[in-house]
Amino acid sequence: MPAKNLTANRATLGHRVTYALRNPGRVPRHLARAARDMWLRHRHPDHIAYYRAVMRSDTRTDPDAAVGSRNRARWLALGEMQFDYLLGHGLRPEHRMLEIGCGNLRGGWRFIRHLEPGHYYGIDISPDILFAAQDTIVELDLRQRLPTLTPVADLTLRFLPDAHFDVVHAHSVFSHSPLPVIDECLANVGRVLAPGGWFDFTFDRTEGEEHHVLREDFYYRTETLVALAEKHGLRARFMDDWEKLPHGQSKIRVTHGDAD
Ligand SMILES: C[S@@+](CC[C@H](N)C(=O)[O-])C[C@H]1O[C@@H](n2cnc3c(N)ncnc32)[C@H](O)[C@@H]1O
Repeated sequence: MPAKNLTANRATLGHRVTYALRNPGRVPRHLARAARDMWLRHRHPDHIAYYRAVMRSDTRTDPDAAVGSRNRARWLALGEMQFDYLLGHGLRPEHRMLEIGCGNLRGGWRFIRHLEPGHYYGIDISPDILFAAQDTIVELDLRQRLPTLTPVADLTLRFLPDAHFDVVHAHSVFSHSPLPVIDECLANVGRVLAPGGWFDFTFDRTEGEEHHVLREDFYYRTETLVALAEKHGLRARFMDDWEKLPHGQSKIRVTHGDAD
């Protein structure tokens, strides 16, 4: 895994031209995505509807690739990384877990296997990827663990109970989210978080200018997201130990503002 590029602004013409000259093989795919982006933005001005359409298109081709893994071996490895990290941070079978943007259960199937039956709750904006998640449950014989998988239209979490989840997890979700979506999540996650619980999310980090590529990939400064969490009375800290792992994104942990 190459070192993170924390200063590039991938949205500038200069960066795009240099990247294309260095990686000519990737140009056709990027052009196809840019064309799709223009079409879907026109059809779906609302970001959630837009990204749901992106997921529909990607899931039809390959659900594993739709969540960002180019083959099953990578899908398994990336899920294992998420699972091992949370296990190392004390995820126990009796915990109740909410996974935001659970995808086709790349990490989720391991959480479902580890947790007591009924203790895993996955939500996602894409019904298509949730159908693929059901395939994962069947394939990996996890029916008896009784996970819940629910489509959502926003991140108000309004149908979920107060102070219920010990662990909330969002991997590679805010990397695809504009700031108002993250704001909505942080405004509401504290209500569903149990006392002593924590919410971990990954994000694409920049130390330069915040930017996005198409409406698909968003790059934030750590202090922006920490300040957003604090605005909602939460405490947020950058997870240094996650940086040691071979993953392109960074991680922030959010807890109740009064947590030790
Ligand atoms: C890159 S995939 C990662 C899936 C899963 N977390 C994993 O690591 O395999 C991002 C997932 O987040 C979902 N997603 C994106 N924005 C969302 C939002 N605002 N609320 C809920 N899910 C969202 C997408 O539909 C997709 O399934």
